[in-house]
Amino acid sequence: MTSSYITTPIYYINAQPHIGHAYSTMLADAISRSRRLLGHDVFFLTGTDEHGQKVERAAQKAGVPTPRFADEVSAAFRQMCADLSISNDDFIRTTEPRHYAAAQEIWTRVQKAGDIYKGDYEGWYCTVDEIFVPEAQLVDGRCPNCGGKVERVKEESYYFRLSKYQQPLLDFYRDHPDFVQPAFRLNEVRAFVEAGLQDLSISRTSFKWGVPVPGDPAHVMYVWFDALTNYLTALGFGSNAPDADARITRYWPTVTHFIGKEIVRQHALYWPAFLMSAGLPPPRRIVAHGFWLMGGAKMSKSLGNVARYQDYVQVFGLDALRYFVMREMPLGQDANFADDGVLTRYNADLANDLGNLVSRTITMIHRYCGGVVPAPAAASQPLDADLAEAVTGTIRSAVADFEAHLVSQALQTIWSLIGRVNKYIVEREPWTLAKDPARRPVLETTLYHSADALRVIAALIDPVMPHASERIRRMLGVEKERWTGLSGGTRFEGARLGEAEALFPRIEKTVEELRENAMTNESTPTPPSAAPLPAQTAAAAAGGSAVPADDSRITFDDFMKVDLRVARVLAAEAVPKSKKLIKLRIDVGTEERTIVAGIAEAYTPEQLVGRTIVVVANLKPAKLMGIESNGMVLAATQEGLPSLLVADPGIPPGTRVR
Ligand code: MSP
Repeated sequence: MTSSYITTPIYYINAQPHIGHAYSTMLADAISRSRRLLGHDVFFLTGTDEHGQKVERAAQKAGVPTPRFADEVSAAFRQMCADLSISNDDFIRTTEPRHYAAAQEIWTRVQKAGDIYKGDYEGWYCTVDEIFVPEAQLVDGRCPNCGGKVERVKEESYYFRLSKYQQPLLDFYRDHPDFVQPAFRLNEVRAFVEAGLQDLSISRTSFKWGVPVPGDPAHVMYVWFDALTNYLTALGFGSNAPDADARITRYWPTVTHFIGKEIVRQHALYWPAFLMSAGLPPPRRIVAHGFWLMGGAKMSKSLGNVARYQDYVQVFGLDALRYFVMREMPLGQDANFADDGVLTRYNADLANDLGNLVSRTITMIHRYCGGVVPAPAAASQPLDADLAEAVTGTIRSAVADFEAHLVSQALQTIWSLIGRVNKYIVEREPWTLAKDPARRPVLETTLYHSADALRVIAALIDPVMPHASERIRRMLGVEKERWTGLSGGTRFEGARLGEAEALFPRIEKTVEELRENAMTNESTPTPPSAAPLPAQTAAAAAGGSAVPADDSRITFDDFMKVDLRVARVLAAEAVPKSKKLIKLRIDVGTEERTIVAGIAEAYTPEQLVGRTIVVVANLKPAKLMGIESNGMVLAATQEGLPSLLVADPGIPPGTRVR
């Protein structure tokens, strides 16, 4: 069985987790889940990096003993994993005894290799990034990385002979061109190594919050020396565990470290050098993603421009947040985190594209086939064969994208298929086919292929949206499947559907209204352990919950303000370039007027002419696709398919409805 070892950075605990930390964790989670779907034996690690001056100072500032401070903030990162449905197999803390053992073991090995010597360090140190900054690299006297203040440090220190590894590192990069993804990041590191390496200070004496250096406890290890070792600790390195060697052999050669782009040097340069010195192979791969920006700058605690993942889970639901960040950030590039971006993607990609496909397919199988997936006709037409081919092609390319860690690209591919199936349904018009018993085989074939495509879509979105995927499977009456068996035409006719439910109800509120809502709800935050399901939160956010929490009943007078009238459709035509809209000419008794209605997915224009419908007659005019609409047609929309409210044909236009 293929093994896969996946890691996130271990996070500093000087502050609470935010979207940036959440993103790395969700990305590594999506990849871990995709590997499991491919049948791999996955070990997925995350955790917290608890030592160093920065954390010690944060604890002092909070007036809390450092170990207690560490326990509390580390617990917030563990909670983040639960809130985000992270499927990690282990959560490591660098303050655990198992980690002290591993860090000291690697130090001892490096020392035995003759690569550690004692000296003095005098120079600059950036506590935010926990890095030593050579004088020549200062930018206007500040840290070149974060732009923060640097401090002058002068203390006794152990050094690592990094200079000795210049050539071995260059050889290693040459032999492993795919070591860092994206590749241009490896070029940057290579250029840095080619410029010449200086030995690296790897211990500190001016504070105590760290792993003691073996044999010289006046020194604690430089936090990066200690932190990088966590990836080995979790496999049992440095312990007497009977299975440690077997686990290291099984997982270490497969390890992929997911990190942000600012810590590539530590992972692609220091870490392989430490490992080479200790007689261990460098990691298999480093995947470096870009930054989430807010207001044009990197989201970070020091700038104060951070978004809390909890707020987005509460308003949009967990799967929607996971979808947004995975879709919006192509690997390696920076992306903007903006509320209107999240809302737009929610409504367009989730409520509209995916949500409609799910509700239509499920509703029609319930309505026309008694809730049982029908069998496709033996001979399919080109339209069906094309769709089946698109499904197979999507499986191939989305799986390859996940294997290459290109999650955004995979989602784009999957969404093209969603668009394609929606189009297939509109072209086939199952609602029209259903009226003609002679066309029953075509209806059943159409519904079968739509359901089959949906089965595949549910499986492919699983790593990113595990809950939505599970809910679609429940509605379709199918079990979770491995990706390896996805194509090959798994036939599932006869499956009994579960109950239809709204997956991602449209949010009609504006970003401003959502913010206001969030502010008024602040006193009753959602308990983090009970991350709400998307449907519940979104419906609540949209004011569409079935049982209103507050008394939202209206008075009789309010109701009487709505002028509902019977109207007759005189003419109807499709609105060009719109999938949904039909332009109607209606007679409301006193006059003729134009109304634009979103009913094209359920009715053809010809089916509408002559019908006696009900409209809201006193609505202010609105422009839809450039056409002024005067009023609104009433329809009961069940799972995305509108069904018109009609009056008896004998009732004259203009009659008031109450
Ligand atoms: N403790 C070190 C990592 C040690 S790994 C052996 C560290 N910790 S950190 O808390 O600062 O976390 C940094 C990581 O959080 C980044 O590498 C990235 O994965 C994630 N992010 C933090 N802010 C981010 C953004 N604004 N955007 C995207 N990811 C960001 O460095």
